[in-house]
Amino acid sequence: FFDHIEAAPADPILGLTETFKNDPNPKKINLGVGVYKNEAGVTPILDCVKQAEKLIFETETTKSYLPITGLPEFGRLTRELIFGADSELVDGGRAVTCHCPGGTGALRIGADFIKQQNVAAKMWISDPTWANHYQIATAAGLKFERYPYYDRATHGLAFERMLETLNQAEEGDVVVLHACCHNPTGIDPTVEQWERIADFISEKKLLPFIDFAYQGFGHGIEEDAQGLRIIASRCKEMIIASSYSKNLGLYNERVGALTIVSADKETAARVLSQMKIAVRTAISNPPAHGEKVVTTVLSNNELRALWESELTAMRERIRNMRVLLVEKLKEAGAGDFDFITEQNGMFSFSGLNKDQVEILRKEFSIYIVGSGRICVAGINAENVDALAKAIADVIKR
Ligand code: LMR
Repeated sequence: FFDHIEAAPADPILGLTETFKNDPNPKKINLGVGVYKNEAGVTPILDCVKQAEKLIFETETTKSYLPITGLPEFGRLTRELIFGADSELVDGGRAVTCHCPGGTGALRIGADFIKQQNVAAKMWISDPTWANHYQIATAAGLKFERYPYYDRATHGLAFERMLETLNQAEEGDVVVLHACCHNPTGIDPTVEQWERIADFISEKKLLPFIDFAYQGFGHGIEEDAQGLRIIASRCKEMIIASSYSKNLGLYNERVGALTIVSADKETAARVLSQMKIAVRTAISNPPAHGEKVVTTVLSNNELRALWESELTAMRERIRNMRVLLVEKLKEAGAGDFDFITEQNGMFSFSGLNKDQVEILRKEFSIYIVGSGRICVAGINAENVDALAKAIADVIKR
């Protein structure tokens, strides 16, 4: 049965972590996977999470199944976070939410829903994007096309080319957008550009599918939702895959959410009934622990305030590391990398090519993704000099 099976290539991001673990060099640096590390190089459990876990430990009385969608309170709090506490989409019935295992789970269950319900046949996905987007579309049985996103010459958004290409989309196609902290480029549209994107999508009758994995890592919880909210104000229907992996540091608890907005609440009720089938057939019902942590933190004023301050500290540390890296690169004679400070979120699209990335790995034990994506959240005062010198060395060859 299995003889014909060919070995698959390692995952471009998670495969790198495996190679890193096997590297005996004590000075190795992992800037591959999108995981936050503090100044000491540790991915901490947030204090707000630890405190919530203590409360859960003391009060939890059962490990019985959650509902297929997760508990309604989780969905409500998630909608508050993404649409804003005063949005009519929080309680109005047009938006419905299912807890899915991580942002990836939400993307896949959303894609399954699109396929199963004949919502659309094709997705338009940015080039470049998080490598798993293309695989998820294909695995769900959807076709995809790429639209240009990054302009190498200016290190900015290829905005006009993006819209020109999307002009080829047909009515009813899905457009995947990153709400903030675009992965891998770190380049986000401006408010004016979001407005044009929203008008464009609504005029062409495309369905926005928004990947919202980094809320709070760009400019702030509310600020990072601006683009999504502009889309929501102009498009009656949309899909959102959001995640608590990064902003609550709940990576291995797999806690994300799929939210679908319909034109009216009667449609939304029917949509929810079918989302439940998509969840039931993929995972039956979601894991409870991460969901309970999220619900506890977001609904408790003290823990919520603590979370916001911890999230701000993570965001600011990453911004500081951007500035430090640019300075060190200049000192090392690598040239002008000022554009790195303009990018948002965990990642920096460095401009390094595949060969340079390979030299960094083989000769310096520095691990970054093949596209040249550096996880800035893994840089600290101790490793930045070695990193800058190694980059300067490879680009001068
Ligand atoms: C990343 O892009 O590194 C993260 O989203 C982790 C992952 O699952 O790839």
